[in-house]
Amino acid sequence: MDQYRVFGNPIAQSKSPFIHQQFAVQTKQIMNYQSELAEFDQFDVAVKKLIANNGKGANVTAPFKEQAFSLCDKLSERAKLAGAVNTLIFCKTGVYGDTTDGVGLVGDLLRHQIQLRDSKVLLLGAGGAAKGVVQSLLEQSLKSLTIANRTLSKAQAITQQYPNDAVKAVTFAETKNLVFDIIINATSAGLSGDSLAISEQTIKSSTACYDMVYGKEPTMFLKQAKQLGVEHVVDGLGMLVGQAAASFQLWRGMSPDIEPVLKSLRAQLK
Ligand code: ATR
Repeated sequence: MDQYRVFGNPIAQSKSPFIHQQFAVQTKQIMNYQSELAEFDQFDVAVKKLIANNGKGANVTAPFKEQAFSLCDKLSERAKLAGAVNTLIFCKTGVYGDTTDGVGLVGDLLRHQIQLRDSKVLLLGAGGAAKGVVQSLLEQSLKSLTIANRTLSKAQAITQQYPNDAVKAVTFAETKNLVFDIIINATSAGLSGDSLAISEQTIKSSTACYDMVYGKEPTMFLKQAKQLGVEHVVDGLGMLVGQAAASFQLWRGMSPDIEPVLKSLRAQLK
């Protein structure tokens, strides 16, 4: 049977096996998808072992997305820009790497009727999660894309990859006097329960606040946005299922329906 894995460390919490098993049932694909804990220095070995054991592809999550990028023989343009991959495809000619996080994010925003075209978007964070979605956001004909990060130099490094001032870099403090339609939190602050140094005024003036993190409870950022009356307040569960659907499509050539899977995941969280 065709084998697929999601590699990470830790990995026990991963919802990917559930999601892909549901996709496989839906589309009648005979395949086996499981999570696998890779030791920090054994990621390459784990991938080689999978390839040798009828592996057809893999997802990659923290902390291996950059290592996965390095081991690929060929990369998609968006993976090159992100400097990381979350999807590996094992072909006869070698390992192909792609990143589907941006597609997952954009798809989820649109699903929530959050208009991207001509919108001013603020992306919070400049780590791997932020880098992975910049190109997909830019493809949506935004009015502007601004990246704010605690460490400004990291945001500036991202902007330098894109031509003609397509992306601006600012500090959190500088966002105070700016107005955005959509604010996307790609920092890991939500995971530690920290709040972000974004002014209430900036949050209040937006029509949508999105946090890539999801959980049983909304993150501090989403709680704040809700309290301030922001119209669309959305967590990252739909992005998770969307990126999985895009990986599945790459491997199996079929587009699964994300709605029923998202519904059961939401129920499981509660
Ligand atoms: P990931 O792969 O999740 O993006 P990462 O590469 O470690 O993880 O990046 C984490 C991001 O969250 C960074 O942008 C980080 O800001 P710095 O570059 O200044 O470190 C941001 N971050 C984490 N905790 C934060 C907090 N409490 N407040 C603001 N930003 C935070």
